[in-house]
Amino acid sequence: MAKPKQRYICSSCGGEFPKWAGKCPDCGEWNTIPQEPIMVAAKKSSTMAGNSMGGIGMGNGYTISTLVPKKFDEIETRGEFSRFMTGIREFDTVLGGGIVQGSVTLIGGEPGIGKSTIILMVSSILAEAGHGVLYISGEESPSQIKNRAERLNATSNNISVLATMDIEQAISHLESGTYRYAVVDSVQSVSSSNLTSAAGTVTQVKHIAYQMMEIAKRKNITLFLIGQVTKDGAVAGPKVLEHLVDTVLYFEGDYNRGLRILRAVKNRFGSTDEVGVFEMSSQGLKSADASMFVSNLNTPMPGKVITPVMEGTRSFLVEVQALVSTTYYQYPKRTTVGFEARRLDMLMAVLDKYCNINLSSYDVYLNIAGGLRVNDPGADLAICAAILSSVKDKPISSQYSFLGEVGLSGEISSVTNINSRLSEAEKFGVTSIVGSERLEFTKSIKHVSIKYVRNLVQLIDSL
Ligand code: TYD
Ligand code: MG
Repeated sequence: MAKPKQRYICSSCGGEFPKWAGKCPDCGEWNTIPQEPIMVAAKKSSTMAGNSMGGIGMGNGYTISTLVPKKFDEIETRGEFSRFMTGIREFDTVLGGGIVQGSVTLIGGEPGIGKSTIILMVSSILAEAGHGVLYISGEESPSQIKNRAERLNATSNNISVLATMDIEQAISHLESGTYRYAVVDSVQSVSSSNLTSAAGTVTQVKHIAYQMMEIAKRKNITLFLIGQVTKDGAVAGPKVLEHLVDTVLYFEGDYNRGLRILRAVKNRFGSTDEVGVFEMSSQGLKSADASMFVSNLNTPMPGKVITPVMEGTRSFLVEVQALVSTTYYQYPKRTTVGFEARRLDMLMAVLDKYCNINLSSYDVYLNIAGGLRVNDPGADLAICAAILSSVKDKPISSQYSFLGEVGLSGEISSVTNINSRLSEAEKFGVTSIVGSERLEFTKSIKHVSIKYVRNLVQLIDSL
């Protein structure tokens, strides 16, 4: 066997270098390469049986003699991927319609966001359906996992829990068992004794992923890898694995409201625009109801306006709340929650210039109810309407909704996905949409009429 080599590995991009450098030559980040080298064992060569599916980028494992290039005619396809629908609506949606058999999915997110919870719920459903699941946990003891399972009512006997930090041990169990599904929770907590570096380093994390994927592809095991991401993203995290796996899902959310958003950032079997919305409850994660983003629709209040925004390919009706109050500070406050502060500044400058609304002696607070972060420019008009409603102290009926992007000269332009937005608004009883002249929608939206406004001056008139 070849001698292990000294390597310096960048914690940001995973690049390996024979010499230390202050700035990573690959990704250009500073101070991401540790001063201490690590020993990397020389790669073993082994043969991978059969043809791998889905173009998994196995870095090693092929022997040249067994590889023959093929023409498209000679390549067999498996037709549609067979999928397993878990019945957890939002989870299936994000995956593009259920779990693809034999796929490798990476679920990343900050500690405590709910990765173990969702994967245990999914494991339990798979187990109930008669599939053997091996739950490899390097973070928690079997009793901790059982506690959670009891809370989730997910104690099927088809789940086998293996609490180990040693990947070789886990692999030998997969090798001898008849598991159809395997979970590694988390890739940072298990390590291989073939490498001298500590668990959680880039080399270990990549090695674990390669090893697991090799056996998963060989034995047609569907694999879930859980990856921790810290707030500053410093630890060798799921980033370095993204290009290896088939699907990458990230969990994000608002801890205080219990809102969790599962976002697909890569999906070889579906669209990456999908998001799943969950609510963390005492019985685990529940597929969220669209109504969680609006408070009490029937009581109009000054500064409260609803608007349909897009998150990926889905629209949600959200409530924009603005409060404009006399300032007691030298510099008036502008505070936003769930919306970009600089965009609010811009909208206020436009209101100031074109509508004669002087906000310099007022504090302005803007809140998106429900904990969603709105990045959709289609919400601009609703934000302007909410500010105007609060300045004038006049409530706006919840039957009205506002939709449009506001430009720097105060003109209002149209937005994308109008049909999906309007049908969402219609569901909540909106009867009038105030928006750009060019809002076009199909006849399926029966109960919503459009009030066209060309610019902010016309918006004030219409209010
Ligand atoms: P967990 O899945 O352990 O997070 P991760 O694996 O991403 O680190 O979930 C952690 C949080 O979720 C924890 O703070 C407790 C909370 N929780 C509930 O509120 N209800 C539940 O039913 C469960 C299982 C967890
Ligand atoms: Mg966990």
